[in-house]
Amino acid sequence: MTNLLIIAIDGPAASGKGTLARRLAEHYGLPHLDTGLTYRAVGYALLQSGLPLDREELAEIVAENLDLGSLDREILSAHEVGEAASKIAVMSTVRKILVEQQRKFAAQGEGAVLDGRDIGTVVCPQATVKLYITASPETRARRRHREVDEKSGGSSYEQILADIIKRDERDMGRADSPLKPATDAHLIDTSEMSIETAFETALRFVEAAISEQ
Ligand code: DC
Repeated sequence: MTNLLIIAIDGPAASGKGTLARRLAEHYGLPHLDTGLTYRAVGYALLQSGLPLDREELAEIVAENLDLGSLDREILSAHEVGEAASKIAVMSTVRKILVEQQRKFAAQGEGAVLDGRDIGTVVCPQATVKLYITASPETRARRRHREVDEKSGGSSYEQILADIIKRDERDMGRADSPLKPATDAHLIDTSEMSIETAFETALRFVEAAISEQ
């Protein structure tokens, strides 16, 4: 029996899982890890050094030396870094190294909130509560389009939608730890929900899980 509170959040790109994870972490006073940033950091380091993205042994060395405390969301959010990350994410040995670091993060102090693609299925199968956040590809593309437009403008909705569909195929179709809901995950489709409603829905699932602990 443990009072550790581990909240596992999975879902496809731009589903709203990151926002929900941050809000839940704030609400419960827990540390939060966006595990996508760990894959992005490996991709970024390789790009920066001019190294190829398809040499697993190089990516492994970078992963082993990753410092979770120094992940810079601003730099790592660039589109080409995301593309590099999704190529890194198919490498089993790299996944093993990153998953180990993510598990250590989850086990610290009173628990943690982690979001990604395989948190409920692989990283923290024993999590207190698992949430799987989805939204239609069109809704996700619209949100991402608005976000990019506000920052820099000039993005194309069609291009973003095509990228999201391609990213989903890669994330759901890979052999190791594909994106899928854990059998005991609570599904939240945010297509027709405001952030506030999604947060309240998530909170209800977490509260129910805590009271059953
Ligand atoms: O969520 P994101 O866009 O930052 O993720 C970047 C890539 O990393 C994406 O292609 C999926 C992959 N990823 C993963 O395989 N497992 C995770 N737990 C998190 C992200």
